[in-house]
Amino acid sequence: MALHKQVDVSQQEREVDINPVYVQEKGLQTPRYRMPDHGLLPHTAAQVVRDELILDGNARLNLATFVTTWMEPEAEKLMADSFDKNMIDKDEYPQTAEIERRCVNILAHLWHSPAGRDAGGCSTTGSSEGAMLGGMALLWRWREARRAAGQDATRPNLVMGTNVQVCWEKFCRYWEVEPRMVPMERGRLHLTADGAVAQCDENTIGVVAILGSTMDGSYEPVKEISDALDRLQRDKGHDIPVHVDGASGGFVAPFLHSYLEWDFRVPRVASINASGHKYGLVYPGVGWVVWREPSALPEELIFNVNYLGGQMPTFALNFSRPGSNVIAQYYNFLRLGFRGYHDVQQACQDVAVYLATKISRMGPFELLSDGKELPVFAFKLKDSVTGYSVFDISERLRSRGWLVPAYTFPPNLQQTAVMRIVVKNGFSMDLAGCLLTDLHTQVKILEANPRPPVPLEGEKHRESFRH
Ligand SMILES: Cc1ncc(COP(=O)(O)O)c(C=O)c1O
Repeated sequence: MALHKQVDVSQQEREVDINPVYVQEKGLQTPRYRMPDHGLLPHTAAQVVRDELILDGNARLNLATFVTTWMEPEAEKLMADSFDKNMIDKDEYPQTAEIERRCVNILAHLWHSPAGRDAGGCSTTGSSEGAMLGGMALLWRWREARRAAGQDATRPNLVMGTNVQVCWEKFCRYWEVEPRMVPMERGRLHLTADGAVAQCDENTIGVVAILGSTMDGSYEPVKEISDALDRLQRDKGHDIPVHVDGASGGFVAPFLHSYLEWDFRVPRVASINASGHKYGLVYPGVGWVVWREPSALPEELIFNVNYLGGQMPTFALNFSRPGSNVIAQYYNFLRLGFRGYHDVQQACQDVAVYLATKISRMGPFELLSDGKELPVFAFKLKDSVTGYSVFDISERLRSRGWLVPAYTFPPNLQQTAVMRIVVKNGFSMDLAGCLLTDLHTQVKILEANPRPPVPLEGEKHRESFRH
């Protein structure tokens, strides 16, 4: 989470005023950056907090986030009923543990884990933790194999595209693994098989393939990458596993692209992570990671906790965590079933493809992806447009409540500034129509009021948040 600095309270301008209507008393205040000496009544405190939060954006209009912004009231009730259950207390809440087991099994099945190979996995706080655990398993496996062969095990590297989500950079920095990043190029917005293999050597702990890319929603070619690694093994003997970062695609491809071989159907895929709180359709706080077979997850990484008088193996970075998100995930599996997930993701994709098509025909824009893989697409201004930038459009759309991020791509495409739209459950065709109208209006205003071009470097500070 954000690292916050301590505020110098002597410099602090004002305490928080409490509306006299809430307390029937004038001039009541509560300190902003230290604990008040005395508390407030529950409804007063709740109202003060609620008043602060009106300054946040509207989550339903947040087209930057991949994370679920709407769930059914029944799911919300179930979550509220189970906020008090600590996921780690397996012995005290054995049925929550059983529900987690069912979810792992459902996902292993959905991702075609081979029969009889004992796939296993766990819930996490999100894909970032899933990525850390997946990465650690790769690192430990590689180290064990190198040591067993009497070889140097001090210079591990991980191969991936520069389009990876920041969690993979974190993994590399925290566990001292060299990140081998294959740059993006014009016309190549994610990792390719050739690009990946060219970076691999005997110190490569694994290749991360993303389904799909945070930058533009495109799928990386997992099967092609794996085939190329097969050839590398034949030629040079390096046996390099693939981890699929299916943060979003792990819950989209099985329903919309069932023909695509990206999961455990590909023998080299050792592990897969996904975010339950993205296209798994649960509110923030749950992810999943599954390993193909026990040999993909070294024993040393596993800790046992008490469970019904016995022991239950666990693998996690943290300890306590609410059970509510895992329970909500199971609710979604029961409530929607395969057909229901298909219909939700298809509806998202229909909206994404419709929006992308309309935006491409608006005049100033060029698509970089079209929403046909993840229901996500990125677009840029044509090179001929100079009087305004994507940052201006993003800012102007905020005046109507739309949160559409504008940002520059990573190396080697830092000169490309794009906007990206993530279509999620609950973003209807009607809302898409409203967005198109507002986008069109703002573009017309900007066209009528051009400004001198600002160099991209000068725009950098305006990059809006993306995931
Ligand atoms: C491809 C990819 N991997 C990992 C993550 C991190 O996911 P989480 O927010 O669930 O930790 C994201 C988030 O957008 C992502 O898109």
